[in-house]
Amino acid sequence: MNVLLTGGAGYIGSHTCVELLEAGYTIVVADDFSNSFPEAMARVQQLTGRPFPVHQIDVCDAGALDALFAQYAFDAVIHFAGLKAVGESVQQPLRYYRVNLDAALTLAETMARHGVYRLVFSSSATVYDQSNPSPIDENVALGASNPYGWTKYMIERIYRDLAASDGRWSIALMRYFNPVGAHPSGVIGEHPGIAPNNLMPRAINAAYEHRPIGVFGDDYPTADGTCVRDYIHVCDLAQGHIRALAYVQAHSGAEAFNLGTGVGYSVLDVLKGIEQATGIPANYRIEPRRAGDIASYYADAQKARDALGWRATRTLHDMCRDAWNFKVKNPEGY
Ligand code: NAD
Ligand code: UD1
Repeated sequence: MNVLLTGGAGYIGSHTCVELLEAGYTIVVADDFSNSFPEAMARVQQLTGRPFPVHQIDVCDAGALDALFAQYAFDAVIHFAGLKAVGESVQQPLRYYRVNLDAALTLAETMARHGVYRLVFSSSATVYDQSNPSPIDENVALGASNPYGWTKYMIERIYRDLAASDGRWSIALMRYFNPVGAHPSGVIGEHPGIAPNNLMPRAINAAYEHRPIGVFGDDYPTADGTCVRDYIHVCDLAQGHIRALAYVQAHSGAEAFNLGTGVGYSVLDVLKGIEQATGIPANYRIEPRRAGDIASYYADAQKARDALGWRATRTLHDMCRDAWNFKVKNPEGY
């Protein structure tokens, strides 16, 4: 099976490249490197021993995408490409709506022109209305609280309408919870282009630099007072895409799947996990709540188990150990 990965050089995409190559798939990557590095692709080839084509392409460029589809016969596409920083999306809403929607539309139009109808889309657990209690299954009310989240919500809507209009389409909408960690080799991992806002990379950086991390609030209605999230190892997430490819081969229509572990961990659990993985005592101070945070947010992961035959197997310890390993081996990233 020949699979196009848009945004395949990014954090989740590069780990998915490794899993696909190791599972025997043929892949092509299209990425504009706006938030990633060609070095990540060289390292995937080094890890797997399997060379593959990488094209520097803006997915919003219909002409370039057309040429790519003319050059290769794709069986399916995994669409990772897009802008993903929540805070930045609040500051630059037009850019986020333009890039994310344009990429999603241009890709689907190009696929239809070339007779490719199998699509796996990187959505997000951020498409759920935040008032839903956890665990969150795929049927609860949707909503969003920032422009980034609305782009995912709108693209899901567009892809559902598309699948309803033409039975040849098969689209899996993958709602990721909190991807963390790195490949256990330490060869590839997360290197965000802008300063990270997420807990794991910030806590790893703080531990590495022997400075305290701020914990945003300890008065939430959770077991230890800090917020609970569903952290999932990026390699588990990557393997979920292989199952999604099998699913879109065998079904038509559009279907949403949570990719989470179904287990919630608090901020302090994560800091303890990093302490155990690194041997460096947790160093934190309690700070005010972060605007917009909710106390507890984790998946009901049953649907992916039943329909995809997939479940996350890596532990919080694995996530912390592998994130740390990448940091130690690549202090400056790629
Ligand atoms: P990432 O930024 O590391 O990867 C995205 C990749 O897309 C980058 O390599 C970037 O250069 C590329 N890209 C961006 N715009 C492009 C364009 N117009 N044309 C071609 N390439 C383009 O992000 P990631 O963490 O790997 O996330 C992948 C996808 O998963 C994104 O769609 C993101 O919104 C979604 N997602 C991520 C998370 C998370 O926490 N990491 C959570 C939920 C959903
Ligand atoms: C963020 C995004 C969300 C996205 C998700 C996964 C926001 C508002 N939401 O949410 O859209 O889907 O990442 O990528 O950005 N924390 C600290 N100290 C820190 C950093 C974080 O205490 O320095 C806390 C946060 O308050 C939160 C928890 O750690 O309670 C997890 O934060 P984060 O990693 O940003 O994930 P989400 O809050 O789930």
